[in-house]
Amino acid sequence: MYDSLKILFTASEAVPYAKTGGLADVAGALPRALKAMGHDVIVVIPRYYSIDRSKLQEVPGPLGVPMGPMRTLWAGVWKDTLPESDVPIYFIDYEASFGRSGLYSDENGYSWPDNDKRFTFLSKAAFELARMLDFRPDIIHSHDWHTAPQPLLRDSRYLWDRHFADSATVLTIHNLQHQGIFHESIIDPLEVGWEHFNPHELESMGAVNFLKGGIAVADRITTVSPTYALEIQTPDFGFGLEGHIRAHADRLRGILNGVDYREWSPAVDPLIPARYDRGEMEGKAICKRELQKRFGLPDREDLPLVGFVGRFAEQKGIGLIAGAMERLLHSGAQFVFLGTGEQWAEGFFSDVAARAPQTFACHIGYSNELAHWIEAGSDFFLMPSLFEPCGLNQIYSLRYGTLPIVRATGGLDDTIDNYDPKRGTGNGFKFWEASPEALANTLQWAIATWRESPDAIAAMRDRAMSERFDWERAAREYTEVYREAIAHRKGKA
Ligand code: ADP
Ligand code: GLC
Repeated sequence: MYDSLKILFTASEAVPYAKTGGLADVAGALPRALKAMGHDVIVVIPRYYSIDRSKLQEVPGPLGVPMGPMRTLWAGVWKDTLPESDVPIYFIDYEASFGRSGLYSDENGYSWPDNDKRFTFLSKAAFELARMLDFRPDIIHSHDWHTAPQPLLRDSRYLWDRHFADSATVLTIHNLQHQGIFHESIIDPLEVGWEHFNPHELESMGAVNFLKGGIAVADRITTVSPTYALEIQTPDFGFGLEGHIRAHADRLRGILNGVDYREWSPAVDPLIPARYDRGEMEGKAICKRELQKRFGLPDREDLPLVGFVGRFAEQKGIGLIAGAMERLLHSGAQFVFLGTGEQWAEGFFSDVAARAPQTFACHIGYSNELAHWIEAGSDFFLMPSLFEPCGLNQIYSLRYGTLPIVRATGGLDDTIDNYDPKRGTGNGFKFWEASPEALANTLQWAIATWRESPDAIAAMRDRAMSERFDWERAAREYTEVYREAIAHRKGKA
């Protein structure tokens, strides 16, 4: 058993309160797994407009957050406990920053122009809240660019604050594409001191780069899969930070995300039309039929159904899918797509659905229920990402017996084992080259296997469904990283 650590865990989103992607799944689940190991964790996120205050408990305040020349801003604080746990989660309520429709951008996808101030504010609010609660963290765990200023704040603005005298810092990179690059005018409200605005820390080509600053000084850096930890040290995946990351690679480690099987398991999923599990697969056929019906596709048991759920972003390989569309439509499968994002993609997939309604159906929007339906009702799950730090949907798919068809990158490469007909192994279908041809060929291979070797598919499904990617394992690995971070911090003192 480990000694209990006090962990201050700040993120920009967390399920079930606010979610745009996998970061929310992680922020909602990892703290519970850490708590189950005996740690004392508090989670901090913004109180976005969409989070209903009437279900939360008010914390007496207000909370003052120093913002340099902007002076102290006063925020409300609300509290809840993460579902089915006693992990406290605190919501920073500051209408002018967070009382808006989108988390990071407006309805047209334009980033809010004051994102630098909004997330400087969140990053600092977590420190101030910890002081107010007299919570003295052993670990300050930050996530992505939004809270990446925290390691530097710990070493500058809060350096002499006795509440944080023993705090070591851990920064988790969920996606290196988004780095938080802003005008240097944020340095004053950030109050980290202009001496940190240099090319080894916060500065990148004349601008402030939040993630770069965090990577420079965090006691430990993690990414969400081992392969991604290696990839981001190369120009193809480093988004310009590869050299900086290589310089700090001795503090970097990849920890694969887990899955919350209370939410993502066909044996207990309350959202899907019928429940099923290994050895009792009748429910999956019902889920398929209901999915076809709901999306207006012909009720055809003899055609494999291929699902896609995700952000319509280049990252997710939507360009490859678009390039392969003609072949996909003639592959002898049906398709169900769910997503939102880039306008061209929303238009493109809607047009395809209008043109080939017997074969291709899509829902443009965000729907957790439909995401569950697609996981349960599809035969295959398509995830041809150009890069994928971890990826959660392919792991959910395994549990639902929906075989992933993926490009071998990042967490997709770490979790999916290519089908090998000779050895009778594998839990999905993989391709390497980022081309529409490679995608179409691999899909064709999966469909041919489905038609010609139903027993092989059934066996593969069974293997996929028996695999587990528990948060408990990840929480153990994070605990090791926390220990290393603390040792590193002590070495500095
Ligand atoms: P990323 O964080 O890069 O978007 P992940 O695979 O880690 O990718 O996580 C995506 C999460 O968001 C999954 O839980 C997925 O089900 C969910 N998701 C993405 N798009 C949608 C959508 N349009 N509707 C419902 N859920 C979605
Ligand atoms: C990011 C990545 C995704 C990962 C998620 C949670 O959004 O794009 O691959 O699964 O974070 O760590």
